[in-house]
Amino acid sequence: MASIVLTNVDKIYAGGVKAVDGLNLEIKDGEFMVLVGPSGCGKSTALRMIAGLEDISGGEIAIGDKVVNHLPPKDRDIAMVFQNYALYPHMTVEENLAFGLKLRKMPKPEIQKRVNEAAKMLGLETYLKRKPAALSGGQRQRVAMGRAIVREPQAFLMDEPLSNLDAKLRVSMRASLNQMHERLGVTTVYVTHDQVEAMTLGDRVCVLRDGILQQVDTPQNLFDKPVNLFVAGFMGSPAMNFVTAELVRDDGAAVVFAGIRLPIPDSTFTDKPGLDQYIGKKIILGIRPSDFEDAGSAGSHANGWATLPVKAEVTEELGSEINVLFLIDAPPVEHKDTVAAADAGEDEEALPLTGDKSLWTARVNARSHVRPGQHIDLVVDTHNMHFFDVTSGLAIGHEANR
Ligand SMILES: Nc1ncnc2c1ncn2[C@@H]1O[C@H](COP(=O)(O)OP(=O)(O)OP(=O)(O)O)[C@@H](O)[C@H]1O
Ligand SMILES: [Mg+2]
Repeated sequence: MASIVLTNVDKIYAGGVKAVDGLNLEIKDGEFMVLVGPSGCGKSTALRMIAGLEDISGGEIAIGDKVVNHLPPKDRDIAMVFQNYALYPHMTVEENLAFGLKLRKMPKPEIQKRVNEAAKMLGLETYLKRKPAALSGGQRQRVAMGRAIVREPQAFLMDEPLSNLDAKLRVSMRASLNQMHERLGVTTVYVTHDQVEAMTLGDRVCVLRDGILQQVDTPQNLFDKPVNLFVAGFMGSPAMNFVTAELVRDDGAAVVFAGIRLPIPDSTFTDKPGLDQYIGKKIILGIRPSDFEDAGSAGSHANGWATLPVKAEVTEELGSEINVLFLIDAPPVEHKDTVAAADAGEDEEALPLTGDKSLWTARVNARSHVRPGQHIDLVVDTHNMHFFDVTSGLAIGHEANR
């Protein structure tokens, strides 16, 4: 096992595309690091440079204590798993797993031992004598993983390995991957554009945009303390709600927008140094859907939350929760960072917007029984409001922005 350290790494493709721009990233020994971001942000390029499949245009990559800039892939002691894995169709699962080790002239008993261990870990024991054509997609992907595992490399590099699987299989493979990482503790760099996958798998997650690192942190910190509008809008599903608002202080500090006034708790000003300098000015306010609740079904934890009367335009029932879509009487925020984040979203809202209104989402408990067209009171946890500078898009008071 080994750490992987990228220092000021650039990639400029022939034709001048700067796919990776000054990337600094320290992946700790044994860490599961996820690279996430919208299509074309440079995730695969970064991974391929670590693997040695792509030259680097500038900077330095070290695996363990060795700079590998000029080391060919085979000498880097890493194993890659891709979205489009290719198994040998004429070989059994067992032969597929053993093939790479045979090439390396490993003694037979050692090959057998490693193949058996990998098969056990991945639940492939009963399929060892089958050929790939007789396996499901998920089982084939497990074999591809198994081929990486048997090599016992210093690091695993994975590029969207689950994206060809259906949703249910992805969830169970995610669990297998988590388990495997727990067991083996091998340093892993994992690329995905799926932020749910990123949040559930990563010890830490690195968010990229246009080749530039936005934030690298634990999933919880990315969710609670996004460093800018882009990360705030990209991580979390449904996406964070945004509005341009004014900070005021009259009989207490508050944020005012669309005829709504939400009080700002004193603790917020302590948590976010510099926020008080925005009193009397415009900011971009962000509220996560999960920080709302239906006033009628909210528990006592919502005591003291601010109330927001709304009309439910659309409701999406998810079983234990309901997404309530409602309109806010304010134009959608047009900042380059929210636009880009919205474009990257998968569940694009198809509600026709009438001019100057913004569509917001509240995620409430299913006990709410709210129906489309109903007027309800939402309550909102004002402790979790996010504030962004209208020009820079940076989160106000975030330690990285001070
Ligand atoms: N061989 C290449 N030659 C020129 N440009 C390339 C090459 N490969 C990738 N690019 C460009 O580099 C940028 C980053 O590409 P990359 O494949 O790393 O993105 P990605 O984040 O993996 O995207 P996706 O989520 O779609 O896989 C893109 O603008 C892409 O068009
Ligand atoms: Mg890619």
